[in-house]
Amino acid sequence: MTAPRPDADPWRLAFHISAPRGLVNDPNGLIHWRGRTHVFFQLNPQGCTHANKAWGHVASADLAHWQRLPVAISPTDWFDRNGCYSGSAVEDENGDMLLVYTGNVRNAAGERETYQCLARSQDGVHFDKLGPVIDCPLPGHTAHFRDPKVWRQDGAWWMVLGAQTKALLGTVLLLRSGDLRDWQLVAPILGAGAHGYMCECPDLFQLDGQSVLLFSEQRAAQDGRPASNTAGWVAGQIDLNTGDYSHGPFQRLDHGRDFYAPQTFQHPDGRRIMLGWMGLPEQDSAPSVAHGWFHCLTVPRELRLINGQLCQQPVDELSALRGAETRLESLQIEGRMPTDLQGDCHELELSGISGALTVELRADAESRVALMLEPGQIRLVAHEATGRETLLGAAALPPGAGRVLRILTDRSSIEVFVDQGEITLGARIYPAAQARGIALTSKAGARIAALSFWPMRAAWDDQDDSIATGG
Ligand code: FRU
Repeated sequence: MTAPRPDADPWRLAFHISAPRGLVNDPNGLIHWRGRTHVFFQLNPQGCTHANKAWGHVASADLAHWQRLPVAISPTDWFDRNGCYSGSAVEDENGDMLLVYTGNVRNAAGERETYQCLARSQDGVHFDKLGPVIDCPLPGHTAHFRDPKVWRQDGAWWMVLGAQTKALLGTVLLLRSGDLRDWQLVAPILGAGAHGYMCECPDLFQLDGQSVLLFSEQRAAQDGRPASNTAGWVAGQIDLNTGDYSHGPFQRLDHGRDFYAPQTFQHPDGRRIMLGWMGLPEQDSAPSVAHGWFHCLTVPRELRLINGQLCQQPVDELSALRGAETRLESLQIEGRMPTDLQGDCHELELSGISGALTVELRADAESRVALMLEPGQIRLVAHEATGRETLLGAAALPPGAGRVLRILTDRSSIEVFVDQGEITLGARIYPAAQARGIALTSKAGARIAALSFWPMRAAWDDQDDSIATGG
């Protein structure tokens, strides 16, 4: 296969993690190890379908500039031959990096089998598989038993695992081990029945005094509601020794169209950092598929619990990719006001907003991506030259004055952070290459205390992505 010419690919991302070829899904194995952050991800290196899942691999010393590394593990063994599915990474007591992942197998009868497996690396690049440590499923569960997230706490190893009971109800199990090999079930930590037919990619961690559980809930169509895949969170207090977990309601993590299966890691400086998959399981194509690749990850987002709300912000390190700032102050917006700002790869921050405001990005005479801040809600809509409108995200907004909008635009992706990050919207966009304008619109008049604009540089030093110039 010859690589497509980068200048012929208007969707190639400059500062998001994607693959030059193939389909990317869940972030896996997030870990800061020997001075670098490693991000693995589900990857079909052979095509843009959900098959042949291997672990793609990139690493960064600063969370802004990334280096591509060889595929870490591929589905070549009896215990993972139909996919090295999602999982996590830890540093073991020898200082080695261990991947804990689900081996997915279709047996001769065509039935699913799942094994929780280990792979070890001493250099962070080459991995040796150590085989299964849990021959699943545990009694009472189906073979939908996957996505181990492992961490060390209080002198033991702990794992949360996505599972389905024999009654076809989604749950999350907590397990414990002394040596990463021999695992005992502590308890299910989510009441089966409340969260659809499967809970994928669980992640449990302490944040600002609470035990936060992230997971991705799969629901079948029911009572007129369509089938759904929703990444969300609950927060409360867990007793790891018993698995007793009293927590609040399940809340959506991101209100954009393309967000699923996030995972977090703890940075050595204490920050809890999350990356999500910008995609959903049921999507089967996108314009980038013509260029041989599909899907990407979000930027790294720092998590905080503020007044009981899980808040997300792009990590500060991303500012290393900013070009020269353009700053405007005390803007009064009446009607549609085009700006001199433009580009397909930039960060825009608007603060102290009052009144209803629409921010148009990637705009030309016929098309635009419109972020609409309205009383009580925010919406993101793509308007194509054909007249077609696509809702890319929407969320209810509590009343607030002096709103802040932070918008990261990267060729075929947009991520929006509202106020302290209580609301985020992540979506893929596919505007025409020449649609690069930015305009501000307000029917009834809006005020913006300050606007900052930065073109963004590429996070990659390989040729495929060096075309990003921002601006
Ligand atoms: C979530 C998921 C995981 C699984 C992986 C397979 O998107 O279905 O549960 O491990 O993707 O690629």
